[in-house]
Amino acid sequence: MSTTASTEGGAGALPTHAGRTAVVTGAGRGIGQELCRALAARGADVVGIDLGEVKETGNVVEELGRRWLGITADVTDLDAITVAATAVEEFGGADILVNNAAIDDAVHFDDLDLDLWRKVIQVDLEAPFLLCKAFVPHMRAQGWGRIVNIASGVVMNPMQRFVAYRAAKMGLIGFSRALATELGNEGITVNIVSPGVTKTVMAADSLGEAAFERSAQARAIQRVAVPADIAGAVLFATSEDCGFVTGQTFMANGGAYFV
Ligand SMILES: NC(=O)c1ccc[n+]([C@@H]2O[C@H](COP(=O)([O-])OP(=O)(O)OC[C@H]3O[C@@H](n4cnc5c(N)ncnc54)[C@H](O)[C@@H]3O)[C@@H](O)[C@H]2O)c1
Repeated sequence: MSTTASTEGGAGALPTHAGRTAVVTGAGRGIGQELCRALAARGADVVGIDLGEVKETGNVVEELGRRWLGITADVTDLDAITVAATAVEEFGGADILVNNAAIDDAVHFDDLDLDLWRKVIQVDLEAPFLLCKAFVPHMRAQGWGRIVNIASGVVMNPMQRFVAYRAAKMGLIGFSRALATELGNEGITVNIVSPGVTKTVMAADSLGEAAFERSAQARAIQRVAVPADIAGAVLFATSEDCGFVTGQTFMANGGAYFV
């Protein structure tokens, strides 16, 4: 089975994001790293934020000829976000924000304690709120902005475990719709991209390697999804073309289910 993703982004890709600066959280690996690459390939300068190392992502962005700012920070830490926002403003200001960083709770309800519940809600729901607070003022001042919040197809499925994760991701969808409504007249669109099972470290740890092939068999496009498969929806939702589409959820899942 091929794992070739559909999203191109090498030499010759249309510069749909030229002149834009995109902030991506969870940029160190997985889907976030690929989003940084794809945005840079379309002409954007990129700010990558992650708890962990972001150097590898920065190298990829710079090899594509784009400017890069790497920030090691915890997205739940308000002080760190405030410092990051100042650095981003000096870098040129955020035109695009992709809230991608997340953690999950691969446990059943009985094993979910309050600490883990709070941690997941903080990273997956509260942090996107804090980042929007930090970066919307720049978008508002220029009358243009694109916000994409990464949810998860798990909220559509009766899959066991992931109790806090599902609550947070449903909350994130509600938050996105509310923010889309608040910012609709200011040139800022807010959308959700909801990946299906995609081959990353997070998914391998939580679901096991066998889940990738199993998921592939259960979708219309029967191949294992890789991060580049998610990038296409994010590229559209962050582009000029997405000026009249807001508050919507894009199911980047190869046709795992139809809504
Ligand atoms: N991989 C999948 O199958 C899948 C499916 C549905 C949704 N998603 C969503 O896609 C997004 C990316 O997932 P992934 O699979 O690439 O995950 P991943 O774990 O491979 O990468 C997530 C990145 O976020 C960073 N991060 C975590 N907590 C952070 C914090 N507090 N502050 C800053 N950075 C932090 C991690 O260091 C990591 O680099 C997540 O929102 C996830 O919920 C993934």
